[in-house]
Amino acid sequence: MKLLKIQPAIAENIPEIVALDQLCFNGIWSEDGYRREINSDKSILLTLSLVNNSELKIIGIGCLWSILEEAHITLLGIHPDYHRQSLGSLLLYTLLKDAVNRQLERATLEVVTGNQVAINLYEKFGFKVAGTRKNYYPKTGEDALILWRNGIDKPEYTTELEDWGNRIRDHISQQYLLY
Ligand SMILES: CC(C)(COP(=O)(O)OP(=O)(O)OC[C@H]1O[C@@H](n2cnc3c(N)ncnc32)[C@H](O)[C@@H]1OP(=O)(O)O)[C@@H](O)C(=O)NCCC(=O)NCCS
Repeated sequence: MKLLKIQPAIAENIPEIVALDQLCFNGIWSEDGYRREINSDKSILLTLSLVNNSELKIIGIGCLWSILEEAHITLLGIHPDYHRQSLGSLLLYTLLKDAVNRQLERATLEVVTGNQVAINLYEKFGFKVAGTRKNYYPKTGEDALILWRNGIDKPEYTTELEDWGNRIRDHISQQYLLY
């Protein structure tokens, strides 16, 4: 059984996070960008790590900004070797749970219009398409879809999220022990 750990990123993680960022997103943020996230009390930057003999290897990152009553999910990435094992769902679930604990009311994010994998994942968590931002990504000129999930402060959402959490934990427990 492999051990998994989710924890807030710390400054020492930055080089590993930047390497994973390159793999997952082709370089969204620089080392300085991640340092800003770690130092900001408005940002939740989480790492998902495999633990082996007390050595940690970061295989996932997720980030959320808390802006007024909104949770902006700014990135979510899993190392390509670990896709389709519910680990992206686990990180998204953990970010959304943090948003609920902070009593935020809505969650939103932008995703490349053609990124159907990510769209499927977010739709599973109740996000709906609310519009498009043209030429949103400066490097590629691609459009972004804006996704929203309202009512994350409602008790029904807490129940829904807990159902997801149980299902995800059940699924990953075939391979991983989360601590
Ligand atoms: C998006 C991403 C985080 C998903 O991570 P993952 O750990 O593979 O996802 P999960 O195993 O939790 O899958 C959750 C759901 O996502 C969707 N999904 C995942 N992989 C998919 C694929 N290859 N094709 C279609 N849907 C897929 C499915 O709805 C899946 O649910 P299911 O397993 O019940 O069908 C991962 O693909 C990734 O890092 N991609 C590159 C970065 C990125 O695009 N991030 C999102 C924008 S910030």
